[in-house]
Amino acid sequence: MQSLSAPAHRQNVPWQGLLLAVSILTFWNSLTTAKVTIVSVPPEVTPGENVTLVVQNLPRNVIGYTWYKGYGPARKQKIAYYDTNRKVMTPGPAFTGRETVYPNGSMLFQKVTVEYTGNYTVFVIKRRLRYEVAIGQLHVYWKPVSKPSIRVTDNT
Ligand SMILES: *[C@@H]1O[C@H](CO)[C@@H](O)[C@H](O)[C@H]1NC(C)=O
Ligand SMILES: *[C@@H]1O[C@H](CO)[C@@H](O)[C@H](O)[C@H]1NC(C)=O
Ligand SMILES: *[C@@H]1O[C@H](CO)[C@@H](O)[C@H](O)[C@H]1NC(C)=O
Repeated sequence: MQSLSAPAHRQNVPWQGLLLAVSILTFWNSLTTAKVTIVSVPPEVTPGENVTLVVQNLPRNVIGYTWYKGYGPARKQKIAYYDTNRKVMTPGPAFTGRETVYPNGSMLFQKVTVEYTGNYTVFVIKRRLRYEVAIGQLHVYWKPVSKPSIRVTDNT
């Protein structure tokens, strides 16, 4: 009995030291590691225009990107996989021919239509089976044309 509890007691100090080290490391990581995000450039477009979903805060050691239409990954919604070593884009089932993925992960849409509005998900794939995910939105719509104000002013 005594021999069982004694080692556990002795492990107290190393454990606390380890926990402290872990919490410092986590804190340090949260300071230095910015999350991958997606921004639309420009933020909104009208049909027929080009728009790019730009991937920001890329981590190091990226080996590829997988883009999906929609919120999260669905096999049928895969637009393309981009291999950063081979610099080759492999289209998926949701590829429409208007998308181009660049080496930095950003995806250009040429001559978008209203149907391109929606969520897009990117998996930034790193070495050792690690990845980061970001979701962004595309806004394509006809901007209301400001009508020339023809107003009869009968209050004069
Ligand atoms: C859209 O992008 C393509 C390819 O980069 C370019 O040739 C075309 O001129 C662009 N169109 C507009 C409206 O910017
Ligand atoms: C990625 O590359 C594209 C095309 O060269 C460029 O328009 C975009 O600004 C780049 N994005 C970043 C975050 O550097
Ligand atoms: C994007 O996904 C969110 C969460 O599922 C949803 O609430 C939102 O309506 C979607 N936006 C568009 C433009 O589809």
